Amino acid sequence: MIRVLVADNISNDGIDILRRSTEVDVKLKLKPAELISIIGDYDALLVRSQTKVTTEVISAGTKLQIIGRAGVGVDNIDIEEATRRGIVVVNAPSGNTISAAEHSIALMFALARNIPQANASLKAGEWRRREFTGNEVRNKTLGIIGLGSVGAEVAKRARGLEMKLIAYDPLISIDRASKLQVELMPLEQLLREADFITLHVPLIESTRGLIGDKELKLVKPTVRIINCARGGLIDESALIKAIKEKRVGGAAIDVFPKEPITESALFDSDNIIVTPHLGASTTEAQTLVATDVATQIVDFFKGQPVKHPVNAPLISTETLAILKPFLNAASVIGRLASQLTEGQMSSIQIKYEGELANYDTNSLKAAALEGILGEISDERINVVNANLVTARRGISVVEQKEATCKNYSSLITIELTTSTGVTTVAGTVMRDELHIVRVNSYWFDMVPTGGYFLFSDHRDCPGLISAVSKVTGDADVNISSMHVGRLKPRGQALMILVLDEPLLEEQLKQILAIPDVYSAKLVKL
Ligand code: NAD
Ligand code: MLT
Repeated sequence: MIRVLVADNISNDGIDILRRSTEVDVKLKLKPAELISIIGDYDALLVRSQTKVTTEVISAGTKLQIIGRAGVGVDNIDIEEATRRGIVVVNAPSGNTISAAEHSIALMFALARNIPQANASLKAGEWRRREFTGNEVRNKTLGIIGLGSVGAEVAKRARGLEMKLIAYDPLISIDRASKLQVELMPLEQLLREADFITLHVPLIESTRGLIGDKELKLVKPTVRIINCARGGLIDESALIKAIKEKRVGGAAIDVFPKEPITESALFDSDNIIVTPHLGASTTEAQTLVATDVATQIVDFFKGQPVKHPVNAPLISTETLAILKPFLNAASVIGRLASQLTEGQMSSIQIKYEGELANYDTNSLKAAALEGILGEISDERINVVNANLVTARRGISVVEQKEATCKNYSSLITIELTTSTGVTTVAGTVMRDELHIVRVNSYWFDMVPTGGYFLFSDHRDCPGLISAVSKVTGDADVNISSMHVGRLKPRGQALMILVLDEPLLEEQLKQILAIPDVYSAKLVKL
C-alpha cells in the first residue's frame, strides 16, 4: 500500500481523495528532526508552506517518489535535490489565485481606509473620526509588480474599482497586458507613478530584496505598498525606515521571510498592517489546492500524467496513452542493449522512427535511460533526473527522429557506444506487445516475455544448434523457444535461446568452446 505523509494542515477534501487508494498519516507541526526520522517510511509527502522540505528531509526519504505542495510557491522545497533524486514535485498553481488576489484588494482597502487601526481604536474606547480619514482608490494608480496569475486577477478587480493600472513584468507580452488594460513599464517608472504598489512575483534570486532602500527613494511619499506574495521581496528595515521618515505612506504585509513569526519590527509601526500569511486561507482555496494536489498524487501512483509538475515534463493523457506501451519497450530495449554490451560506456543514441517521431519523446528517453543505467546502478532514474544522471556520468545522450520507417509503423533503436565497440538493439510494439527486431546487424522477431536469454553469435552451419542445445540439455536447462537471424546462408548468424533456467558461467564456457561459436552471453529481461 502506498503511504502518504501529510505534514501541513490541508483540507479534508484532499485527505479523503488520498484515503480512497493510499494509507494516509496526518502529522502536523513536526520538528525537522522528527520529519527526517519518519520520512523514510513514506512514498509521498504533502505539504503547504510551513514544512521545509530540505536536502536532509529529501535524502532521508529513501522511498519518496512524489512531493505535493498544496499551493503555488515551492520555495519551501529543495527542488534541485528532489530532481537529483528523481522525485517528482507537483503543486496547485491556480486553486488559491482568486483568494490571494482578493486578500491583496482587501489589504489595499484596509490601508486606504485605516480599517484595522480604526477597529482597534474604537474597541479601545476611542471615537476618533478625523485621524482615520482615508482615501478613495478610484482614479488612483495601482502599480502591479508581477502580472502573472494573481497579478492579473488583481488587475481585473482593480479595473472594476476604476483605478489606473500599470505593471512591471519583463516576462509578459504587451498583448496580454493590453487585454488586461494594464500599461507595462520599467520598475523605476512604476515606482514613481504608483499610488498603491502590490507585489505578485515569486521569491527567486532575482527578486530577493526587489524593493529596497534605492527603490523606496523613488516612490511618492503617500504610496501604500502591499505584499501578499513572499517575504524577502521587500527589504523590511528599508521599509520601516522609509515609513518612519514619511517617505512611504503605509504598507500591508501578509508574508514574512521567516514563518511563523510573532515578533517583528514591522509590528511596531501604526502604518503597517500585518496578517499571518492569510492570502490563500479561504475555505474555497484550501479545498481547491488540497483536492488538486491529492488527485495528482493518486494519478501519479496510477501511472497517469500529473497536471502540474514542477520538475518533470508535462505530458498529456492522450500522448501518454499512445506512448505507454513504448515506455516499456524503450526500457526493455535499453536493458537488453546494456546487458549485451561490454566496456566503458561513452555515448547513447536513441532513435525514434515512424509515428513515434511526432511525439514529445522525453518520457521515452527517460525510460530508455532507466533501462540502460538501471542495469549498472541502483540510482533511481526517471523522467525527472535522467538528463542530470547521464550528464553527471559524462555519458552523452543523443536523440534522433525520423518521421518515416521502412517496415514498422514505429521503431525505437538504441545504440550504445563503449570502449569496446557499438551495440545496437531495436524494437517495436505491435498489438500492445513488444517485439525485439534487431540486435546489431541481425534482424529477427522475438517477443521477450521475460526470463533468461542466451545470445550467441556463430557461423551458420549444420549441427551447431544441436551442439549448443546439448550443453543446455546436459545442464538440465529447458529451452522454451528459439530465434535465429543470419546475415546470409552459411554466413554469420545470431541464435537466441529463451531459457526457463539460467546457465552457469561454466556452461557458457562450454558453449564458447564449440567450434564456430564467436560469443555467448546470458541476458535476463
Ligand atoms: P505566477 O508565476 O503566475 O506569476 C508570477 C509573475 O511574476 C510572472 O508573470 C513572472 O513573469 C513575474 N516575474 C518573475 N520575476 C519577475 C521580476 N523580477 N520582476 C517582475 N516580474 C517578475 O505566480 P502567481 O500564482 O501569480 O503567484 C505570485 C506570488 O504570490 C508567488 O510568490 C506565490 O507564492 C504568492 N502567493 C501567495 C499567496 C499567499 O497566501 N499570500 C497565495 C498565492 C500566491
Ligand atoms: C502559496 O504559495 O500558494 C501561498 O503562499 C499559499 C499558502 O501555502 O499558504
